[in-house]
Amino acid sequence: MQVIQSIDEIKAFVRSVRGQNKTIGFVPTMGYLHEGHQTLMRKAKKQTDFVVVSIFVNPLQFGVGEDYQEYPRDLRRDSSLAEAAGADVIFAPQVREMYPQGYSTFVDVEKLTDKLCGRSRPGHFKGVTTVVTKLFNIVQPDIAFFGQKDAQQAAVLQKMAIDLNMNLTIQIRPTVREKDGLAMSSRNSYLNPEERAAALCLYRSLEAAKNLVDAGERNTGALKQKIEGLIGQEPLARIDYVEVLSFPELAETEYLKGSSLAAAAVFIGRTRLIDNIIVEV
Ligand code: PAF
Repeated sequence: MQVIQSIDEIKAFVRSVRGQNKTIGFVPTMGYLHEGHQTLMRKAKKQTDFVVVSIFVNPLQFGVGEDYQEYPRDLRRDSSLAEAAGADVIFAPQVREMYPQGYSTFVDVEKLTDKLCGRSRPGHFKGVTTVVTKLFNIVQPDIAFFGQKDAQQAAVLQKMAIDLNMNLTIQIRPTVREKDGLAMSSRNSYLNPEERAAALCLYRSLEAAKNLVDAGERNTGALKQKIEGLIGQEPLARIDYVEVLSFPELAETEYLKGSSLAAAAVFIGRTRLIDNIIVEV
């Protein structure tokens, strides 16, 4: 698997691929790949001719006191996982080339970023939209693939692509879960066995909310209460937020209508995990 670090080199590489009239699929990641990322790569490979995976732990999207330093990194492991999933090239730039001294340009999507993770992690989405814009400009993909686990990120990036007339399609794929339901995440590697068991409260509470919806519940307050109640029973869990909002607008509503997002962020010990479900009524 070829790993390219230089921006000029990947641009030239992608230009030559495009010169062969091939379409380009793009899977942006922060590495420490798992089955969720691999599923995105396989989808990309089915739908496009050439798949670029980026691996870049983006310092701009981490706040003070967050896990930028500890975020797991293993390029060798990632290369073989990406290759196994059919990726064609990895772009793994250096921080100093992405953000050279004096760097001063940012992309900011307003309103959608005021809530959920945006409220708990000020500046996070500005970091995400800035790096994703840079990556899109460098890789020039036809289709970029993201997971629904980061549902707010997905909504924000869709809005950014529309508002800025970006010349690509953003595709959001369903969350990939472990057998017992835990959403796959590179941060799951932080959990000790006791915390790993406790982390299941997220999925279980969201599933319970979905069952309520299937049984006819439409009140968003009742759904929130159910989720909070179940997570509250887990001694190792501390709720950051639980919200039920319209999707993708992320607007508060008293009753479910159309597509809605039930989302939770929970600290299990020191690890902050997020998960969500989308329900349609
Ligand atoms: O979802 C992620 O892994 C990151 O937020 C992304 C989109 C790669 C930007 O750094």
